[in-house]
Parts: sequence; structure tokens; C-alpha cells
Amino acid sequence: MTEIRLVQGDELLTSALPLSAYAFYASPRPTDMEHWQRLVKDREAWRIHVAFDAGQPLATASVIPMTQNVRGALLPMGGVAHVATHPTARRKGYARTLLLRVLEDMYEQGQVVSALYPFRPSFYQRFGYAGLPKPAQARFNPRQLARWIRQPDQAFDDVTLSSLADGFKDFWTLLTVLQRDQHGMALRDPAATGSLLERERWLALAHRDGTVVGALPYEITHFGGQLVADGLFSIDLRARESLLRWLAHHTDQVTEVALQVPADARPELWHIDLDVTVERVISTPLQNAPMVRVLRPEGLNGLVVGAGSVDVAIQDETLPAAGGRFRLSSQDGRLEVTRGGEGTVALTPSGFAALVYGVLDPEEVVHHGWGVFDAEAQQALRTLFPPATPHLFESF
Ligand SMILES: CC(C)(COP(=O)(O)OP(=O)(O)OC[C@H]1O[C@@H](n2cnc3c(N)ncnc32)[C@H](O)[C@@H]1OP(=O)(O)O)[C@@H](O)C(=O)NCCC(=O)NCCS
Repeated sequence: MTEIRLVQGDELLTSALPLSAYAFYASPRPTDMEHWQRLVKDREAWRIHVAFDAGQPLATASVIPMTQNVRGALLPMGGVAHVATHPTARRKGYARTLLLRVLEDMYEQGQVVSALYPFRPSFYQRFGYAGLPKPAQARFNPRQLARWIRQPDQAFDDVTLSSLADGFKDFWTLLTVLQRDQHGMALRDPAATGSLLERERWLALAHRDGTVVGALPYEITHFGGQLVADGLFSIDLRARESLLRWLAHHTDQVTEVALQVPADARPELWHIDLDVTVERVISTPLQNAPMVRVLRPEGLNGLVVGAGSVDVAIQDETLPAAGGRFRLSSQDGRLEVTRGGEGTVALTPSGFAALVYGVLDPEEVVHHGWGVFDAEAQQALRTLFPPATPHLFESF
């Protein structure tokens, strides 16, 4: 008899943590008790589900509480992470059973949307998730930006250097400001940021009038090697150029900067004559693109949308509470969702998510088999949900 329940505190040490360590860590390795105790503490805000059979923990799946900007509205989001089944119990449906419970639990917790990084997208698509574009990596030699070094300091913001741990508070404050304007951007609950500090990184911060206006978390592989940055975060052009100038100061120390940028970034236009390689490699399980799902259609009130009104019928087999008929209409450019309507547009949850996030055209939704509706309804949906490029940012 399988029992699924939430686990917290020291019970994690004998249930969820060994399962996810076997799946995601190099092994076998000696047990560093301090590391595990730190994880127990860092995960207090997570909801960690474990499936037991005859008292034995066999599979686990966690939800990290986050918020996400979806078309301008900040929504409660569940980040599904650390899905793992013991090798003796694989391919028996444990992950599937856990996922169904996790969806229900996120719904009960009031989360409106969910995101995850799939081991195989087709597995999660059957749970109502749809793919988002993956961020790109831009690579260039910092020598090419050397012109900026000779320009007067007054043209740039002041840049300081610390460890990520020491500058984390300022970094996070900046990210919460940027999240307000970045479609798709998720940020974990402040109580769940502890494990981010385990990443050893430098943090360059750009300051203006006592406020942090830009941030660049990075590591250097070796002398003559790469400077690898998780992203270049800036509130405006001046802050961005100040951080690019910081990179220019690494000319002759590193031969390449590798910088994560949103899928729609065009770094070739940042600087004249910049030779840059922009690459997006999508390959599971390690270089996977994220996926998203809507858990509560009624929670989408307030999204910034186009014009018009469409009646949809969402058939949600993996989370029935999220299905049904809804009227989606634009009131002064903001989405209003009410239960009811004619249900003329049939959608699967994946089809609905793809439209809400703006990643597929309605014609593609029909083509994938994620919806049934005619050309007139396609046009109505195209007008209501214009294409958009979400950038999730959080990785988990
Ligand atoms: C990925 C992982 C969590 C799957 O767990 P699982 O408990 O084996 O998953 P399930 O049994 O629920 O289903 C997985 C697949 O096995 C299939 N399956 C389940 N029972 C089966 C059976 N008796 N015979 C044949 N196939 C079966 C499922 O249909 C599914 O395949 P499909 O996607 O082609 O339909 C597990 O393999 C694992 O821990 N891997 C390492 C860590 C990892 O990759 N985690 C995911 C990070 S997102």
C-alpha cells in the first residue's frame, strides 16, 4: 500500500534526501552530516512529498514556493523540483502518482502557476505543462570591449566586487525590482534562498546614488580561461554598460566571457564590432528548457493582454479542479476570467499554458493536438494573447 505524505525536519535525512542525492549527486561519496543538516534547514519552506511502501521511502518530489511574473501580473508559483524514484522502484508509476498529488497540493496551497525543468518534456506535457524557450549563452572575448576602459569613469556607474554571499541581499532586492517588468521571471520565496548561497560566485554590483542598479554573478575557471556569468542584470542601459566595462577589465586575464542571456537577447547590438557567439543547446537531462502550467485559471485576472473575448473549455485530466468552462475577456487591456461561457474553444492544459505565456501561435496549438477550434477562434486567441518571450531566470 503506497502512502504519500509531506516530510520535514530530520525525517528528510532518512527519506527524501537520500533519494534525491542518489539521483542528482556524484556517488558514492562519504556523508557530510553538516551539508545534510544545512539542507534540512534550507528546505523548511519547501513542500517535500515522499511516497512510502511498507514504510520504505521510494520516491520523492518537492515544491519550492515562488512568485512569477506572467504578462505583468505577479502570481504565486510552485517550482517542482527534485523528482526522484529509488532505482528498485522505477517504472512502476511512483513519479506519476507523486506528480498527481503535487499538482493537487499546489492547487490547495493557492498557487496559480507552476514551473519545472523536465527530465523528458513529453512526460510532463501529459501533466499539463508546456515548454518555454531556453535562455541562450553569449560568448565573446572581453578584449573587444576595451574601448570602454579608456572612457571617463563619470560615464559609468560605480562597480564593486564581493562574494555572492556577502552581496546577496542587494542582489535579491535588484531581482525583485526587475521581476516586476520581466514576463516569465520567477523568484523563490526569500525563506527558500539559502541553497543559492552554496554556489561560490563573485558578485559585481553597479551602484548609482546609493542604489544597486546592476548585478553580475560569476565565476572564473582559471587564468587564461573563461569568466562564466549567470546573467547580467541591469535596470537600464547605463547600468548594463557599466557591467560590460567591468568585463572589459578582465582583458588578458580571461580569453572568453560566457554569459547567460534571455532567449530574445541580441548581444550583437550591445557594442559595435562585437564578435559574439549566441548559442542555445537543448538536451535532456542536463541542458533542459523549462516548462510551465496553469493551476488556477481564475487566478489569471489582471494579466496584460490584447483585446477581445474568448470562451474556452479546458479539459484537465491530471488536475480536474483546474478544468471547466471559462470566459476570458480583456477589460481595458487586463484579463478577466470568469467561470462559465459557451466553451467554444476546447483546450488541453498544455495548450492553455502555451497561449497564456505567449510561446505558441494558436494554429500551432491546434497542430500539436492541444486544442480544437476554427480559424476565427485562432484569430481571437492571437489577439487576446499576443506572442511573448518569457524568461524564467530561476533554476531549480
Ligand atoms: C525520472 C524518474 C523520477 C521517473 O520515476 P518513475 O517512478 O520511474 O516514473 P513512472 O514509473 O511514474 O513513469 C516513468 C515512465 O515509466 C513508464 N512506466 C511506469 N510503469 C511502467 C511499467 N510497469 N512498465 C513500463 N513502463 C512503465 C511510465 O509510463 C513513464 O514512461 P512514459 O513517460 O514513456 O510514459 C526516475 O527515473 C528517476 O529518479 N530518475 C533520476 C532522476 C531524474 O531524472 N529526475 C527527474 C528530474 S525532473
